[in-house]
Amino acid sequence: SASRTHHIAVLPGDGIGPEVTAAAVAVLRAGAERHGYRIEVSEHLVGGAAIDATGEPLPAETLAACRAADAVLLGAVGGPKWSDPGARARPEQGLLALRQGLGLYANLRPVRPHPAALGASPIKPHLLAGVDLLVVRELTGGIYFGARERSATHASDLCTYSVEEIERIVRRAGALARERRGYLVSVDKANVLETSRLWRETATRVMREEFPDVRLEHQLVDAMAMHLIARPREYDVIVTENMFGDILTDEASMLAGSLGLLPSASLGDGRVGLYEPIHGSAPDIAGRGVANPFAAIASAALLLRHSLGLEDEAACIEQAMARALDAGALTADLAGPGTAIDTAAATRAVIAALD
Ligand code: NAI
Ligand code: MG
Repeated sequence: SASRTHHIAVLPGDGIGPEVTAAAVAVLRAGAERHGYRIEVSEHLVGGAAIDATGEPLPAETLAACRAADAVLLGAVGGPKWSDPGARARPEQGLLALRQGLGLYANLRPVRPHPAALGASPIKPHLLAGVDLLVVRELTGGIYFGARERSATHASDLCTYSVEEIERIVRRAGALARERRGYLVSVDKANVLETSRLWRETATRVMREEFPDVRLEHQLVDAMAMHLIARPREYDVIVTENMFGDILTDEASMLAGSLGLLPSASLGDGRVGLYEPIHGSAPDIAGRGVANPFAAIASAALLLRHSLGLEDEAACIEQAMARALDAGALTADLAGPGTAIDTAAATRAVIAALD
């Protein structure tokens, strides 16, 4: 609600992470001034920055601060400095530990290409106009969390899912589809994988019992990879398991023109949600003040919506971003040569458009 002070733990991380989270916090503060909600921000270490300072990618202090906060806003982690394969600690471990530590099993990635960015997509503009989809990816199960084995000549990664893990993510997706256009596509590989057969049976049952008003369709992941590019406009909510979701969401990001535009929300049954751009730390442009801040700002809008219940305030920031893009506030990833503006100017354009 607007009357109390909301505590936001900000984890800037590495590379462009600090640059884009600073932009998002500036927009949140400007929004707070205009709408009368109150936020209090504290900064904590994660990723390479945390390894440098403490030896750990997720210091206990950071996890405790995130658990105590109302929401977490994260930049990005990683970079060449911490990529030595022999390294004891890796920045990405910090992210996995954070998702697991907060029980964040649902990763939401909305994709709604903006007209001003369509030219930056490799897909033909006429296929993209009107695209408005949401991928819901299972985030704490499946092959990324299964047992691993390695010998000199063999390796294995185990993919497991429980009925309960599938039920809760399908429920989350069903509820989101109900609030949107009432159409859910569940993606699996049920013609081959046992985990996918369990996924399909469970999704069918949960949707029949709890969401009879939402239209459910099943797709195989290989076919879905094709449909997502060929007819993206037809989709509303897409729910899938961890690895398929990882791959399909990177593919879906190309619909929007730039990685620099796409936000994500990671939610669990607990109180705290984690919000972050889908892009990484972009070491190639870090420190130059040219990163696109829109993905981080859009993540802050998702934070207002999903963690603080401030729907109008979230929509206001999203509309300000759209107006700024319409007015030509394009960073180098979107603009033609010679016309790009920097991170600070793009952030100012969004703040100005809040009025
Ligand atoms: P990346 O997303 O950092 O960069 C890919 C390309 O997109 C680069 O050319 C970059 O300059 C550009 N780009 C990304 N975000 C941008 C923005 N906001 N504005 C303008 N251009 C942008 O992916 P990459 O290069 O594969 O990974 C770099 C590092 O980031 C690695 O250490 C990787 O492990 C890490 N990473 C971290 C993630 C996270 O923290 N969630 C996610 C993906 C990668
Ligand atoms: Mg990925």
